[in-house]
Amino acid sequence: MSAQLISRRQLLQQSLFLSGSLLSAQALATQWPALPDSSMSAADLARSEAYWQSISAFYKKAGGIVNLEHGYWGKMSLPVEQSYITLTEMVNQQLSYYARKDWYRDAQGAVDAIAKSLAVPAEEIALTRNATEAMHNLLFQYKGIQPGDTLLWADIDYPAFQRTMAAVAEQRGAKGVEMTLPAQANKQQLLDVYKDKIRTTANLKLMLLTHASNQHGLILPVAEIAAFARQHGVDVICDCAQSWGLIDFTLPELNVDWAVFNLHKWIGSPVGVGALYMRKGTLNKVAPYPGESDPDNVLVHKRVHMATSNFAAFLAVPDAIQFHNKVGPAAKMARLKYLREHWVSQARKMSHIEVLGATDNASASGMGAFRIAGQTSREQINALQQRLEKEFGVFTVGRHDLASGSCIRVTPQVFTTLKEIDMLVAALAKLA
Ligand SMILES: Cc1ncc(COP(=O)(O)O)c(C=O)c1O
Repeated sequence: MSAQLISRRQLLQQSLFLSGSLLSAQALATQWPALPDSSMSAADLARSEAYWQSISAFYKKAGGIVNLEHGYWGKMSLPVEQSYITLTEMVNQQLSYYARKDWYRDAQGAVDAIAKSLAVPAEEIALTRNATEAMHNLLFQYKGIQPGDTLLWADIDYPAFQRTMAAVAEQRGAKGVEMTLPAQANKQQLLDVYKDKIRTTANLKLMLLTHASNQHGLILPVAEIAAFARQHGVDVICDCAQSWGLIDFTLPELNVDWAVFNLHKWIGSPVGVGALYMRKGTLNKVAPYPGESDPDNVLVHKRVHMATSNFAAFLAVPDAIQFHNKVGPAAKMARLKYLREHWVSQARKMSHIEVLGATDNASASGMGAFRIAGQTSREQINALQQRLEKEFGVFTVGRHDLASGSCIRVTPQVFTTLKEIDMLVAALAKLA
């Protein structure tokens, strides 16, 4: 080892980063300004403007627009952003010297933090670059499809995943079926629709379940549907890309064999971090990534081939999860749902507005959607999005894949104020 390298190593040790993400997380934790007291219940915290104002201090918020489009990806808190910058510098200084020696151990730190947070063994988690990569691994490497089988998805599922399901069905000589969920529904209605479809679909082999829909934030009763599917011999892939962090849950509560995640939405990691969950004992149904080998079917990470990835993004994962936990997953879910309820309860009283998605608390998340009654076309929704932005200073996004038609999606964040939601409500009233 050259003297230059040794001194760089020593220098990095002094700055606490050579030993990787765990040490950096500890170092950062001590540097974080104290988060406000959160001894109140999640329900009380949800209504405490003071609490969320102090949480907002941990984010750099852009001015000039009320941004209610936080479903695309999340925002790193300042401590996580700082950690990511420092880790990026470290990786860029150390290069392969770091990656060859310490990366695999540090990557395991990210896996451990994800597994702990989801309450499953670390052996059941593999890192991916996003939820899509994990979904592709499951779908393309799934071995169970025979010609004549049926693959099932719903209109509320992530549109790209619907298309991938359809393509896989076509490639394997199977039948692809898209089911339609009611535009507004409660938990029991959703369960009934799924049970009926599982019961009546011939040769159903594999189905996609989206925990939180990217169209209107609807939460599916995944555990109940998956249990029913299992009784009927149907395999389930659960898409948790939009749910983890938006709502508070652990994987044992969902009771699914396979699930896909990202951390760059509601967990607040840098962009480029996802995860694949495969329950122990289920790996025989999904082949290793082409060219990889796992004769005993026990290694989840052999289902993925990440190649060269954004090392620093993964290294920042323990910090992101730590910050998320400090804010409080239950309080965060309650706050976001409270913000949705604030506009939805008023919008429901406006006869010109149609609110979409959940009609009960169990199926609701902080994400919601609406349209002007009867205006369901893509063009009408795109015009409405523009009007909200230009006339009222409220930024949203049009979503176009529900069977009932297009809609405007509204997604607040933890730093969104009640006043900002009131601006949306005032705009909705003026759309009459
Ligand atoms: C429900 C849902 N599934 C999957 C995805 C894809 O996630 P990623 O971009 O991390 O692959 C998204 C992203 O918006 C989503 O909302």
